[in-house]
Amino acid sequence: MNARVIDGKAFAARLTQDIAQAAGDLAARTGTRPGLGVVLVGEDAASQVYVRTKTRQAEACGFHSVQADLAADASQAEILAQVEALNADPAIHGILVQLPLPKGIDADRVTQAVRAEKDVDGFHYLNIGRLGAGKQDQAFVPCTPAGCMMLLRDALGADLSGRHAVILGRSNIVGKPMAQLLLAANCTVTIAHSRSADLPALCRGADILVAAVGRPELVRRDWIKPGAVVIDVGINRVASGDKSRLVGDVAYDEAAAQAQAITPVPGGVGPMTIACLLLNTLRAAHRHLN
Ligand code: GUN
Repeated sequence: MNARVIDGKAFAARLTQDIAQAAGDLAARTGTRPGLGVVLVGEDAASQVYVRTKTRQAEACGFHSVQADLAADASQAEILAQVEALNADPAIHGILVQLPLPKGIDADRVTQAVRAEKDVDGFHYLNIGRLGAGKQDQAFVPCTPAGCMMLLRDALGADLSGRHAVILGRSNIVGKPMAQLLLAANCTVTIAHSRSADLPALCRGADILVAAVGRPELVRRDWIKPGAVVIDVGINRVASGDKSRLVGDVAYDEAAAQAQAITPVPGGVGPMTIACLLLNTLRAAHRHLN
């Protein structure tokens, strides 16, 4: 078998076009542009690239966008003051504090300081709770798992009932919310992680395999059930001669020989995360107006 490539880049481009159209309609009807506020602390190179991309794409969709850059030695009080300023700004509907935050900063304090109705990352406990209670229509759903669900439905159709989904990784940002979304879609869900016994055997049971562990090319050919759909959330930079390249958590060529469909890295899940952030911000603006 040679897997179909799930083109997240093209899917995200179409979604982003629809978001731009909807933002234009909203502005024409109400005079309100969706507003995104992004807080970046420090000079982590990858975070700088992500934040720049998010801000640029928001502007390309006609959003109002504000980026607050704080120095790496900014205090917790300074970061919280920035979040409070965005909370209080009526032109801002969605707030994102880029993670990771520098050592010594209490990331939970900061993410919980974002008002739940502006929490377009879906990190606030109210939004986590709504998702866990099966009220995802009232929640902001974290962007990466939301994007993975769209790609899965594109690959398999809307109805995922009864499929066995295995998620590698139990992070609050990806693994746990992904499990909630797959459960809500009537999948049978297994969360596997670094302490699980026999990861390859667990993964071989998967009709849907979501890899989100941050370990380059951990998942090999014999971990994959023939015909499975593989969603690779990993973005790992590895040395390649005297250069570097990005690889996922899945050994792509090996997995593509087994799977029915697979996301590439780059060009799979990554662009969907940003598109879903814009979608959450558009929704936040709609909710603010209603
Ligand atoms: N860092 C890596 N992924 C994310 C994300 O989805 N949101 C935020 N705020 N920071 C991140």
